[in-house]
Amino acid sequence: MTMQATPNLQTSGGGPARLLVLGGGGREHALVWSLTREASVEVVLVAPGSDAIGDEPKVSCMPGVSAMDPAAVLALATTENVDLVIVGPEAPLAAGVVDPLIDAGVPVFGPTRAAARIESSKAYCRSVAEAAGVRVARGMAFSVESLALDFARELSAARGSRGVVVKADGLMAGKGVTVCADFATAEDAIRGLYAKSGPPRGGPSMPFVVVEERLVGAEASLIALCDDHSALALPPARDHKRLRDGDAGPNTGGMGAYSPIPDLPESLCATLIDMIHLPVLAELSLRGHPFRGALYAGLMLTPEGPVLLEFNARFGDPEIQALLPRLAVPLSPLLLGAAQGDLAAAAAELGVQGRMLPTTGDAAVAIVLAAANYPETPRRGDVISGLDEAARAGGTIFHAGTVRGSDGAYRTDGGRVLSVVGLGSTIATARACAESAADCITWDGMQRRHDIAASVPAAASAGDWDRLAQGPGGPQMSGGAS
Ligand code: AMP
Ligand code: GLY
Repeated sequence: MTMQATPNLQTSGGGPARLLVLGGGGREHALVWSLTREASVEVVLVAPGSDAIGDEPKVSCMPGVSAMDPAAVLALATTENVDLVIVGPEAPLAAGVVDPLIDAGVPVFGPTRAAARIESSKAYCRSVAEAAGVRVARGMAFSVESLALDFARELSAARGSRGVVVKADGLMAGKGVTVCADFATAEDAIRGLYAKSGPPRGGPSMPFVVVEERLVGAEASLIALCDDHSALALPPARDHKRLRDGDAGPNTGGMGAYSPIPDLPESLCATLIDMIHLPVLAELSLRGHPFRGALYAGLMLTPEGPVLLEFNARFGDPEIQALLPRLAVPLSPLLLGAAQGDLAAAAAELGVQGRMLPTTGDAAVAIVLAAANYPETPRRGDVISGLDEAARAGGTIFHAGTVRGSDGAYRTDGGRVLSVVGLGSTIATARACAESAADCITWDGMQRRHDIAASVPAAASAGDWDRLAQGPGGPQMSGGAS
């Protein structure tokens, strides 16, 4: 990859030298790109990695080691004597890849399987958030189909209802949520989930689907590095979840992102960390499942204040592609500090004060290029053209789903294929850079949006925010399984 954007890193002599990154998608490419630019980092192993990740300096990919195989990951980490393991995607976390590493004394940035349930079960997420006093949408988790249908009917008929949202309980790569304007659509979504997966495997008390009131507002992703009891936030970002321009089409894993977001000023994110991340970390510790890793709060900024939509137990994709080029401190000492339960000391060592990581002052826009037929049945094998031209146009390109053929050409090999990041002193100039670079790239059936960061909500005033941050507060309804 041709490097266009260079993070303005302070050098640190004290960071980890040998890293193992798990995963091989766009988020991991961005992490590796960022980590290899840090002075203390000597070697980055990536399991399984990808052809494009393997082209980064200091990197060795391990295509034979699956991130989903805890025993193989532990063997690699110990044989290679790595200083820190960083887990990228959610599936290895849910598969428990972290637990044996912790047992063996290997520092790892990523939560245990039990703590990762905050993402892998939406019902668990609601229950933890409610116990921690974090505002969530009115809703409930269900095992029994008829009860889920009754509740969706009741919510749809409620005064002022804008519809309901139907969520599969488990991990669905961002595609398990249906936003329904009316009961008929919700009914189809609920019946579809039960028909596709059959009755819940864990029996009648296991949550299978979550039904929530539909909220309206702009979304924001607030991701923090966490170590059991403390949190340090990356700047806020905004993902665009729908497939097509104008927020039309089905939900996806994310079609583009930008940062900063003027309607969530960075100065006020600290308040949200106090209101959301810290109480949830305390609640998880109380339950015996302390969380070390990236805690990602997906928020809806409603007219009544911010409401939590979901937690993820990892960095957002494509948010992190837009965020990493903005950071003005090296990440690896902070990830190691979080993994060792001493994030505060690592932050102090770097001169980081307060709850937010310092930024370069640049804005960033990431545009995702997706394969034909994404998200349903993405087509593989289409030849990608224009990568070099895009880099020459100023874009930084992260590969998510590509493979390089024996002819040296990259082909599509996944749903979301590339993200193209543009930087600039304003969101508008960053967007112009990302657009002109993305315009250079094409393949048969490529899908992308042309409106990422095109209409950015106005900046919120501090007065607005004091009021919104108070909100009505408190949990709205029980999240237990029915
Ligand atoms: P989740 O995986 O829960 O974040 O949901 C994925 C996406 O679905 C979110 O980013 C929102 O765009 C949408 N969504 C989830 N919950 C709600 C809700 N209660 N109201 C409106 N949209 C929602
Ligand atoms: N971009 C949304 C996610 O990472 O879940």
